[in-house]
Amino acid sequence: MKKVLVATEKPFAAAAVNGIREEIEGAGHELVLLEKYTDKAQLLDAVKDADAMIIRSDKVDAEVLDAAKNLKIVVRAGAGYDNIDLEAATAHKVVAENTPGQNSNAVAELVFGLLVFAVRNFYNGKSGSELMGKKLGILAFGNVGRNVARIAKGFGMDVLAYDAYCPKEAIEAAGVKAVDSQEELFEASDIVSLHIPATAETKNSINRALVGKMPKGAILVNTARKEVINEAELLALLAERDDLKYLTDIMPERDAEFRQFEGRYFSTPKKMGAQTAEANANAGIAAARQINAFFKDGCTKFQVNR
Ligand code: 3PG
Repeated sequence: MKKVLVATEKPFAAAAVNGIREEIEGAGHELVLLEKYTDKAQLLDAVKDADAMIIRSDKVDAEVLDAAKNLKIVVRAGAGYDNIDLEAATAHKVVAENTPGQNSNAVAELVFGLLVFAVRNFYNGKSGSELMGKKLGILAFGNVGRNVARIAKGFGMDVLAYDAYCPKEAIEAAGVKAVDSQEELFEASDIVSLHIPATAETKNSINRALVGKMPKGAILVNTARKEVINEAELLALLAERDDLKYLTDIMPERDAEFRQFEGRYFSTPKKMGAQTAEANANAGIAAARQINAFFKDGCTKFQVNR
């Protein structure tokens, strides 16, 4: 019997936790919950005797891995795994996995929730505009980007995409216009939706030079990671251009300064993209099944620290 810890500062919906429990206990393991913890010390204590861990955006760094003496596998129930120190996991002989695609529709739907809210002037009673006919540029054509494209077509938008790691043909096969560079995407799009992960290459990459290329009345929407934004440069650009809007599901470090752009800036108070009953269940249960498959058969199909 293995001990599986679910450590979620932002908890899953109750039904998802029940589903995870059924999977883990059904395979003969024990489930332990650490939800809404406020202090790293609580996490360090909870991981002490865990053989496996399910997390969300919770940070698993070298200190956590040092404390987790029995840990063999950590599964990030979600897409981005920038919250796991992959090198440290490898050094500790811990398999790190994610559950790609399981919460992507939820994130994509939130993009449109934010967009409709913004083009209708945050529901302030004044006349707004529509998404139909607008050019939507999708930066990175992964699971979320593809869902964004599907929904955008329903709105009657013109959809463009750029992905440094996805051939143009694959984008075009999804009925989306593929452009040749990030610069071209920003230049051609009324709205740009970010779906890049936070990596050494992408951090701070969404800067003044790029966003400044967008046409008048442009909107930048970020449901990816706050780290990809060069906050100082975006703040400067918002000050310079009173036609530009920034919508985000990941509150910037400099939220207080962004708030001065009332009517052109909105941040959710807590990251809400994947926070639906369906996405919680899909990602949480997938994580539980991956852990069961790892202990039963040594399966590491979704390993990200090879
Ligand atoms: C992801 O990478 O899967 C999303 O950003 C969702 O993150 P969350 O599980 O913390 O809501």
